[in-house]
Amino acid sequence: MSIIDLIAKKRDGAEWSEKEIEFILHSFVKGSLPDYQMAALLMIIYYQGLSQKELLVWTQTKMSSGSTLDLSDLPGPKIDKHSTGGVGDKTSLIVVPLVASLGVKVPMICGRGLGFTGGTVDKLESIPGFKTDLSLSRAKEILTEIGSVMMEQTDEIVPADKKLYALRDVTATVESIPLIASSILSKKCAEGIDGVVFDVKFGDGSFSPSKTKAASLAKALVNLAQKLKLQGVAVLSSMDQPLGFAIGNALEVEEAIEVMKGKGPKDLRELSLYLAAWVLVLGKMAKNPKEGIKKAEKALDQGLALVQFRRMVDAQGGNSRVIDHPWLFPQPLERLNIRSPKNGFLKKIHTRRIGELLRNLGAGRMRLGELIDPSVGLLLSKKVGDSLSKGESLATLHLSSTSRENLNEKELESLFEITPRPHKPLPLIGPVIR
Ligand code: URA
Repeated sequence: MSIIDLIAKKRDGAEWSEKEIEFILHSFVKGSLPDYQMAALLMIIYYQGLSQKELLVWTQTKMSSGSTLDLSDLPGPKIDKHSTGGVGDKTSLIVVPLVASLGVKVPMICGRGLGFTGGTVDKLESIPGFKTDLSLSRAKEILTEIGSVMMEQTDEIVPADKKLYALRDVTATVESIPLIASSILSKKCAEGIDGVVFDVKFGDGSFSPSKTKAASLAKALVNLAQKLKLQGVAVLSSMDQPLGFAIGNALEVEEAIEVMKGKGPKDLRELSLYLAAWVLVLGKMAKNPKEGIKKAEKALDQGLALVQFRRMVDAQGGNSRVIDHPWLFPQPLERLNIRSPKNGFLKKIHTRRIGELLRNLGAGRMRLGELIDPSVGLLLSKKVGDSLSKGESLATLHLSSTSRENLNEKELESLFEITPRPHKPLPLIGPVIR
């Protein structure tokens, strides 16, 4: 079989066979299919899509590209959640310890930054010492001991996703329904879980700007989960503005900790509780989301999620003193205030542009394998709908390698649209697709 012929075959609109997909993915994992040919393949999938049959085989082959977790000897429900990606989206950092504190086993395999969005692995690694590159046996030990673990794809588990994910990040091939769906479900199936709650983002700060496209992605995820014998439910949620106030790796972990301390932004708390509630429903620990929210809220307010988070940080080699001493997180060299040029109300935050700006400033990657700077970020002072006076702070930019002299003040101001009339933000949580 020739890779060039297979590239041409899809380019010309034909369907790959099961054997051809296996050949592509196995060759890529082995290293005999180079990144430049896989980049071409990804771009073709971006444009041509994958048929239902191809999508299923692509996902299963990725899932079985390494070993998988066997959790059959662990008692209790095994449920995970996964987001399709958004700017400032840090709910996993709260939902995983929260539901684990209530008895759900969560073996989360997560990813690094993708495109203009941050990734849970990069966020967790901003905690000094935190290790996400775990062997499967160590991951299972942690899960057995404390009930949750958050790790990355490795050479041992979903290696095909580890390599493809990193390549998609730097080749503008992220926004493709089959690539997103197969990326998420290959990881979730390898975890050996019973069910998954998908947080499907729509709006400017997500990979699905339109709600209709997000609904298609949600349906694709739920259908694919069903075919793979996983329970699945998709919650649509808005990314028309960043979630919470913090964007950037270290800042986001700090903010998630605030929520686990019973403080933090309202929107982040609300969405985290709602997703946790659905995890409890899938795990048969709540009859419906309303009951799930009550249980999750009680656990959060009793500090149980924070206790579980601390145990997880300790178990994964991180310095859990950051929880009480946030200055132990990597700190920026400079802080730059972005101020409102006029009086009015905040109408729009250009969320995708903020994600792109931070990626360019070092919070994400422009090249394969690049080191990131966990201290780079943006802390909003206002959310959509808030009133503003001229000169008031809109946000603070945290900078390290790029200094403020290289930034254009007007461009930074243009990330925010201000209107003279009061403006209401869109609802945060959209429909649920099952
Ligand atoms: N999360 C993933 O794991 N993969 C994607 O493609 C998007 C979000």
